[in-house]
Amino acid sequence: MTYQNIVILTGAGISAESGLSTFRDEGGLWAKHRIEDVATPEAFIKNPDLVQGFYNARRRQLQDVTPNGAHLALAKLEKEHSGPVTIITQNVDDLHERALSHNVIHMHGELSKVRCTQCGRVQLWLGDCTQDKACSACGKSPALRPYIVWFGELPYYMDRIHGLLGQCDLFISIGTSGTVYPAAGFVADVQKAGYAHTLEINLEPSAGISYFAEARFGKAGDLVPVLVDELLGK
Ligand code: APR
Repeated sequence: MTYQNIVILTGAGISAESGLSTFRDEGGLWAKHRIEDVATPEAFIKNPDLVQGFYNARRRQLQDVTPNGAHLALAKLEKEHSGPVTIITQNVDDLHERALSHNVIHMHGELSKVRCTQCGRVQLWLGDCTQDKACSACGKSPALRPYIVWFGELPYYMDRIHGLLGQCDLFISIGTSGTVYPAAGFVADVQKAGYAHTLEINLEPSAGISYFAEARFGKAGDLVPVLVDELLGK
């Protein structure tokens, strides 16, 4: 079977083999931090230094990790597949880009950027962000927050994403527990559109497993390169 328009949803599991913690696995980020302390707008108002510190530590970690075989395989698919390949990622790391994927949609934001709460400007930010730092556009401080979608906030690019889900003929989900909406509902949206094949690659069945026509269980670093070679007819 050949496919034309491929949409891929990735979650923290695709970056696990690069050394980045997932959220809900044993010892994951939400085992070490309470979401309400570091990943909500209210948390940022209550204790901005704690929230900035949580994201500064994760941003710093980006310097110590590299893309793994799964990221590299997806970049190869984008390069060599005849039709469009779009990655919708829940991840805020830059490993897809560093693997040379170009068509990447960060629906939960990006660690390597900050947003000004005064003027709204999103700007690249690779070092630590603290409350004394001023916005490069409007000059105000304190003004900068992580460019991250927190719980209770709307993910980015949802109109574009819904369009993609309705047009694809292959939807692949990689390394996500399928527990956080709206991403967890994407496979149902694809199914509603009626004609795409749906495939999940995960260490274990996600919460959305019943919606997938096909599932492959194991490490993304092992399974994604095999899948990409199949899709490229190799
Ligand atoms: N290969 C494949 N899958 C893996 C691997 C691996 N090497 N390691 C872990 N996984 C799987 C786990 O089995 C789990 O189902 O990846 C999934 C990671 O799930 P979560 O930790 O819940 O991460 P994710 O699904 O991306 O979370 C979604 O929740 O907290 C919010 O905004 C945050 O984007 C995040 C969202």
